[in-house]
Amino acid sequence: MNILITGANGQLGIALGKAFSTNAPSIRTISVARGELDITNKSAVIDAFNRHSPDVLLNCAAYTAVDRAETDRDAAFAINEGGAANLAQACAASNTVMVHFSTDYVFDGSATRPYVETDATAPLGVYGESKLAGERAVASFAAQAIVLRLSWVYSNEGANFYQTMLRLGASREHLRVVADQFGTPNFTGDLAGTVAAMLARPLDALRANAGTYHLSARGVASWHAFADAIFSGAQLARRPTVEAITTAEYPTAARRPAFSALDASRFAATFGVVLPSWQAGLERCLAERALSA
Ligand SMILES: NC(=O)c1ccc[n+]([C@@H]2O[C@H](COP(=O)([O-])OP(=O)(O)OC[C@H]3O[C@@H](n4cnc5c(N)ncnc54)[C@H](OP(=O)(O)O)[C@@H]3O)[C@@H](O)[C@H]2O)c1
Repeated sequence: MNILITGANGQLGIALGKAFSTNAPSIRTISVARGELDITNKSAVIDAFNRHSPDVLLNCAAYTAVDRAETDRDAAFAINEGGAANLAQACAASNTVMVHFSTDYVFDGSATRPYVETDATAPLGVYGESKLAGERAVASFAAQAIVLRLSWVYSNEGANFYQTMLRLGASREHLRVVADQFGTPNFTGDLAGTVAAMLARPLDALRANAGTYHLSARGVASWHAFADAIFSGAQLARRPTVEAITTAEYPTAARRPAFSALDASRFAATFGVVLPSWQAGLERCLAERALSA
């Protein structure tokens, strides 16, 4: 089986590349970063499909700068909608199974229990709008695509909240972190392992189960609780204090949902894989960091 990974230098792309090379060496993965394949370039996408003949595409390429997107709408849509559409068309033309990643930020955060796939979407910002437009483009061009919505992704690579906390925590005695936004932190290593387990199924079974799924660890946390757990688990010489603040005290360009945890029951029932608790994922991520230190 040939798997093409786009956006391969992003935090999820790196983890997926590692997951297949470690656990499924018989699968041939072709990892292409932005420099090798810009998904907004339609003819480059067609060329890449002709060259690599993928059975499965994992689209990890995305515009993910949530605040910058507010003033960079065209770029966010060009990548998250236009790029996704190019890939979906290429997948449909070559019968490639498309796995596309989307976000909890398609929701407005007014729920009081984890979101299910049938809940109404209502993004609060440009990033969420562009990702929702991408989901729709994928569904319209590639009816057999699997769209996996993720929330609060972090890893030891790339820019993410976990990395920011560890960096700031090493130099500051006191941090202020928002405590009234709730979601679920997801370690890329766990997400990638779960996607690899899903792809162990025959291609026809994947095609038969096309649709939108929520993929998330279990449990709910605030950013403040996540920060606290990071500092509890990390072996720091000196631990900073973490003050709980409100969203109003930390203004950002983009509005974010107050609650965006995702209910992964549909994914578990369909593919038979369950992610562990977010705390277990954090332990694994910190252990990976300690090993590579
Ligand atoms: N991060 C989160 O908290 C989060 C939460 C929910 C869902 N998601 C979704 O999960 C998926 C993976 O996110 P991630 O956290 O791994 O993001 P990431 O670390 O920002 O990686 C995205 C990758 O896409 C690449 N890219 C951007 N524009 C491209 C283009 N035109 N052609 C090809 N590649 C391009 C980026 O390259 P450059 O760095 O060179 O621009 C980057 O390597 C995305 O669909 C995202 O929306 C993420």
